[in-house]
Amino acid sequence: MLATDTNEEALAIARSRPWPSDRVRLLRRDPYAPSAEAPAFDAGLAALWLSHVDRARMARFLAALHPHLVPGARVFMFDERDAPERPLPASRLDAADNRYEMRRLASGERFEIVKNFYDESQPRRLVGPYADDVEVQTLTCFWTLAYATRG
Ligand SMILES: C[S@@+](CC[C@H](N)C(=O)[O-])C[C@H]1O[C@@H](n2cnc3c(N)ncnc32)[C@H](O)[C@@H]1O
Repeated sequence: MLATDTNEEALAIARSRPWPSDRVRLLRRDPYAPSAEAPAFDAGLAALWLSHVDRARMARFLAALHPHLVPGARVFMFDERDAPERPLPASRLDAADNRYEMRRLASGERFEIVKNFYDESQPRRLVGPYADDVEVQTLTCFWTLAYATRG
């Protein structure tokens, strides 16, 4: 398993967990960088990630992800929905229809982050060119997307 993040702090949290070290690699990677490697993975997971992808960069992310996956690989993605009880309001929208939120760290530092929500049809549409057997589920606070990569 290869797990990636751009952020060393997030990787350090993941490294502190009891993974079987001979089978799990945790690496700092740019998720938008094209793959230079042959497809090597039979599954893909994007957990709580798509909401942070700038809409203008989504095609680039998906084009970078899929060459890592062999044909028929199972992919699962999930992220939050705009549930009514969501406490954080949007700080702004931009011209590409990205939604932003302010986030505060324990240190008190404040950051504005991209936090996009999708309607029911959007996850399916996003992966359409890459996907067979697409299943989308709408839960109370989350959406899930499962598919097989096209051969
Ligand atoms: C909401 S967290 C989800 C983390 C993890 N998937 C989980 O479920 O615990 C979003 C992650 O995206 C990472 N991230 C934000 N911008 C990134 C970028 N440009 N490239 C790669 N990772 C990024 C953050 O460091 C953070 O760990």
